[in-house]
Amino acid sequence: MGILDKHAVLEKNVTLLAVFAFLVVTIGGIVQIAPLFWLENTIEDVEGMRPYSPLELTGRDIYLREGCYVCHSQMIRPMRDEVERYGHYSLAAESKYDHPFQWGSKRTGPDLARVGGRYSDEWHVDHLRSPQSVVPESVMPKYGFLENRMIEPEHIEELLATHALVGVPYSDEMIENAKADFKVQVDPFGDTDGLLARYPNAQVRNFDGQAGISEADALIAYLQMLGTLVDFSTFTPDASR
Ligand code: HEC
Repeated sequence: MGILDKHAVLEKNVTLLAVFAFLVVTIGGIVQIAPLFWLENTIEDVEGMRPYSPLELTGRDIYLREGCYVCHSQMIRPMRDEVERYGHYSLAAESKYDHPFQWGSKRTGPDLARVGGRYSDEWHVDHLRSPQSVVPESVMPKYGFLENRMIEPEHIEELLATHALVGVPYSDEMIENAKADFKVQVDPFGDTDGLLARYPNAQVRNFDGQAGISEADALIAYLQMLGTLVDFSTFTPDASR
């Protein structure tokens, strides 16, 4: 009885009520959030995940610059309609090297988390040039100019080093070889042993079908690797941990 009577004090003093409400919410928040900082399995390690190759990372920057995320999400939710349309639901580990992550909140276009390998490079070139040429009702803007913008990996070492700074495990060796790895990924006749050792399953080819390295090469390299790193024919979620 006694303590309930004291509650009347709170009900009549709005400042005190605010202070106590704040305290209660803070404690609740800490209890929910704090353990995540210490639990080892907040992000389950998944075989196959690796940092982006220099070319893919550059493509990802173009994806950000062009605002593709304004219309496209990269997170497949574990619901039947999504899984049937897009494939296995997204794992936390699949975006652990994403700074910033591209989960998105708007789907004017389809989710792109597993678009890698769904279409040919030629399809992507046509689609970027004129989305309406392959999907007549599409409202996606044209990005054909990307093919004409040639890129030099001038600042690629700095780009990798910056990502390393925020926790992506780019080794010194990866940073040292960034320029070479960038160039060899579009050269099917180049020596790709180093690239493939550093970035297993990196796809090597001339993505946009024309000479030189264009922004379209980098963007398509990025799109074609999305969702392809984890082998879902053998993956079993580790629910026991
Ligand atoms: C104004 C919204 C909008 C923007 C911005 C946009 N898209 Fe799209 N995108 C769409 C729509 C709508 C579709 C579905 C129709 C189609 O395939 O064109 C689509 C489809 C796609 C597809 C095919 C997906 C699939 O599974 O069929 C890819 C790949 C794609 N977009 C990539 C991009 C990239 C890369 C960018 C940035 C350079 C971009 N989009 C920017 C709206 C957009």
